[in-house]
Amino acid sequence: MSKPSLEDRVILITGATGALGSVAARACAHAGATVVLLARHIPRLEKLYDEIITSGGQTPAIYPLDLAGASEQDYADLGESLRRELGGLHGIMHCAAELGHLTPCSEIDGARWQRLLQVNLTAPFLLTRAVSRLLIETGDASAVFVGDSGVGDGKAFWGAYGVAKLGLAGYARILNAETESFGLHSRLFTPGPMRSPIRLRAFPGEHPDTLPAPAAHAEEITRLLGPPSVINPH
Ligand SMILES: NC(=O)c1ccc[n+]([C@@H]2O[C@H](COP(=O)([O-])OP(=O)(O)OC[C@H]3O[C@@H](n4cnc5c(N)ncnc54)[C@H](OP(=O)(O)O)[C@@H]3O)[C@@H](O)[C@H]2O)c1
Repeated sequence: MSKPSLEDRVILITGATGALGSVAARACAHAGATVVLLARHIPRLEKLYDEIITSGGQTPAIYPLDLAGASEQDYADLGESLRRELGGLHGIMHCAAELGHLTPCSEIDGARWQRLLQVNLTAPFLLTRAVSRLLIETGDASAVFVGDSGVGDGKAFWGAYGVAKLGLAGYARILNAETESFGLHSRLFTPGPMRSPIRLRAFPGEHPDTLPAPAAHAEEITRLLGPPSVINPH
């Protein structure tokens, strides 16, 4: 299957500086999209911004935001700024995630539980809700949520991160049932184990070289963020 062009599409990627997010950002920018790079650390965002430009990708935009502390107003402001500065939004991919530690649920305190649910589940919900009108206005938009096969149907020790990923899978399905007929297609993308800081934290004894690089997913991500009516014509 040939790589779709993302020309004239604006794509927001959370966790854009991470292992998977940076692959998604580079792939989309090289397919012609204007990519909005969202994460917390500005120097890492700037480094990725420079890399995309020097490698010939479409000029991206940077939007630093901490998903652990962002308010509903912060998300509304982001939506407004996308409309004002870039004219809209055609796709969003939620790559940002915090793992915490693999541990029994009985060992997780309330503050940690809330933070992990906030970053991994509530933030994708609030952000998608804040930009859903922009997405629907394009008539051909994609929202991509990232699952984790390690969590399975509910495996021991994945804790609040695991609960959030199970919730996210349900949210993607429910949202899709509500908005697909209006042109907003929601998908769950579950990459499987990859060489990345999150994986290393979860499995410190595993040698990273035994895992596939996140770049293996570049083409699939570009396809998921392309115009759904072109990729899956009725
Ligand atoms: N790696 C794997 O083996 C694997 C397997 C299955 C699924 N996944 C999923 O794939 C996705 C990407 O994982 P990854 O391996 O690429 O992770 P990663 O390399 O650790 O990247 C995480 C990204 O999230 C951002 N982030 C973390 N906390 C944030 C916050 N509070 N606010 C805003 N941004 C925040 C980080 O940037 P800042 O620190 O600058 O904010 C970073 O850009 C995640 O959803 C993960 O659950 C990964």
